[in-house]
Amino acid sequence: MKMRTVVTGVGHYLPARVVPNSDFEKRLDTTDEWIRSRTGIERRHFVAEGETTSDLATRAARAALDDAGLNPDDIDAVIVATSTPDFTFPSAATMVQEKLGMTSGFAFDVQAVCAGFVFAMTTANGLILSEQARRVIVIGAETFSRILDWDDRTTCVLFGDGAGAVVLEAAGGAGTSADRGILAADLNSDGRYRELLHVDGGVSTHTTGVLRMQGREVFRHAVEKLAVTAHTALGRAGLTEADVDWVVPHQANLRIIKATAQKMGLPMDRVVLTVQDHGNTSAASIPLALSIARHDGRIKQGDVVVTEAIGGGLAWGAVVIRW
Ligand code: UT7
Repeated sequence: MKMRTVVTGVGHYLPARVVPNSDFEKRLDTTDEWIRSRTGIERRHFVAEGETTSDLATRAARAALDDAGLNPDDIDAVIVATSTPDFTFPSAATMVQEKLGMTSGFAFDVQAVCAGFVFAMTTANGLILSEQARRVIVIGAETFSRILDWDDRTTCVLFGDGAGAVVLEAAGGAGTSADRGILAADLNSDGRYRELLHVDGGVSTHTTGVLRMQGREVFRHAVEKLAVTAHTALGRAGLTEADVDWVVPHQANLRIIKATAQKMGLPMDRVVLTVQDHGNTSAASIPLALSIARHDGRIKQGDVVVTEAIGGGLAWGAVVIRW
């Protein structure tokens, strides 16, 4: 028997305020038409004053726990993938642990920007396979609205806030690609590209900073790298693109998503799209999309789901899951 990490629950939370592209037309030299045609984004959610990443993360975690039929006390570990934690420390994950009323287990954050959920899932899989934990909740949660330069039309129209979460549990498998659970992953980063997408401040530089991006360059790396990392992870799982039921990509830009699907030889009706409604929610985008496609009945038990993402670092990777 081989130990596997199976997804047993998924949920999400989006802040109440919805901002359409037209809102940006009022104060920036931009148009709804430009944003839609270049990115696929139509609207995004933004947090209210006083609402924080750990608030969103806790709501998403509760939804995922309900879906799994579990209580917070059943969970051994909480991992939050985020680049926008409430505080420098403690981690957003320990704040979620406290808000859920958990008094045992352990919690920590993973920071790999837009690839954070892929990195956190892989970390959780390692914890379960090494028997450090039997049940882990992995949350992607972000409030990128707090780190945007509202005068920079090349970045502020692209991002949104939100959170998604999955409950992962140890289960037995046969050790074949027919098993349910995380079948394989591929992680990469290359710090030589750090200038392409970064926040120009931080604790150690005495500033808060705002997001800066060389969009065209990041676009080029995304189109080059995402299909490759998905292919590598599929190969490790003993699968090919032909076995994939659903691609759940990081939701940054519809054109990147389409180009990647084309490289993978997959039609767009096998790709889950939420970018139009959420914008780019960084580490939250994949679990948000997983939750939506699971709860509307698209993702079914037994389906092969490939998630892939790239972001600041650059950091990128893919995880193959049999749901
Ligand atoms: O989540 C992490 C990963 N991030 C990404 O994957 C983002 C990757 N990059 C992208 O999605 C795209 O590069 C963007 C959406 C950021 C930009 O699209 P693009 O097609 O690469 O446009 P561009 O940067 O080449 O700019 C084209 C033109 C420029 O004007 P000129 O120089 O041709 O006169 C920009 O100044 O569009 C202009 N532009 C805008 N115009 C209206 C840039 N932003 C805007 C805007 N409204 N909001």
